[in-house]
Amino acid sequence: MTAGLGGRLALVTGAGRGIGAAVVTALVEEGARVVATDLAADGVEALAGRYGDRVTARPLDVTDATAVRTLVDEVEDGLGPLDIAVNIAGILRPSDVVDLTDEDWAATFAVNTTGVFHVSRAAARHMAGRGSGCVVTVASNAAGVPRAGLSAYAASKAAAVMFTKCLGLELAGRGVRCNTVSPGSTLTDMQRALWPDGDETAAARRVIDGDPAAYRTGIPLGRIAEPADIADAVVFLASDRARHITMHDLYVDGGATLRA
Ligand SMILES: NC(=O)c1ccc[n+]([C@@H]2O[C@H](COP(=O)([O-])OP(=O)(O)OC[C@H]3O[C@@H](n4cnc5c(N)ncnc54)[C@H](O)[C@@H]3O)[C@@H](O)[C@H]2O)c1
Repeated sequence: MTAGLGGRLALVTGAGRGIGAAVVTALVEEGARVVATDLAADGVEALAGRYGDRVTARPLDVTDATAVRTLVDEVEDGLGPLDIAVNIAGILRPSDVVDLTDEDWAATFAVNTTGVFHVSRAAARHMAGRGSGCVVTVASNAAGVPRAGLSAYAASKAAAVMFTKCLGLELAGRGVRCNTVSPGSTLTDMQRALWPDGDETAAARRVIDGDPAAYRTGIPLGRIAEPADIADAVVFLASDRARHITMHDLYVDGGATLRA
């Protein structure tokens, strides 16, 4: 895909590993400059080391509204107008509802929902004033299908999807597009944490096959996504190839939700 992002400036959260790191790589390969941010510094610093002045690494906790606003303002002043904001920072703390702690619920929403609000608001204030820009939020296919043990995660992602759509409606008349990408199971540390027995091949097979006892469909396309599969969708929505697409939720899950 040639998305033609030469000259564009993007900010990516949760960029240190997994899907976030793949999105940074894909954006850079399409010609964008990227401010790669993450709670943990090591991953984004490694990306900056690999890509030189095309990637600027910054530590950022998306739950901290002041830190988010300060960083976005600094980026605008120091690196130029922000064209693309990508919300990828996320956490998953699986638990049945009866065992779910107040802290797990609050932390999940603080990152997956409130973090999306903080970053999108800070970026949108600049973009709307200029009359151009786009926001892409990485949510989850769990936002659309009930899953045992994932209530807080799924609810937080569903909220992030609807927030991003509402923002898209508010900003459509000011030239700013807002979309979501909803991945299914993707081979990252977050996914591996759900596979505690260490046999990755067997665990992947179980995900692909599904589990009727848990009311969980498998993956019709027969494979677990790689982070680059999700990155391609993000890059497309961030590009002018998607110039007439806003408030869309693009599922990249190999058909796992049957799009029901
Ligand atoms: N891997 C999957 O199967 C899958 C499926 C659907 C959706 N997703 C979503 O995709 C996104 C990326 O997932 P991943 O699999 O790469 O996860 P990951 O756990 O490998 O990476 C998540 C990144 O977010 C960062 N992060 C966590 N809390 C943060 C905070 N408060 N501020 C800033 N950064 C923070 C982490 O440091 C980490 O680098 C997440 O939003 C996740 O919910 C993943």
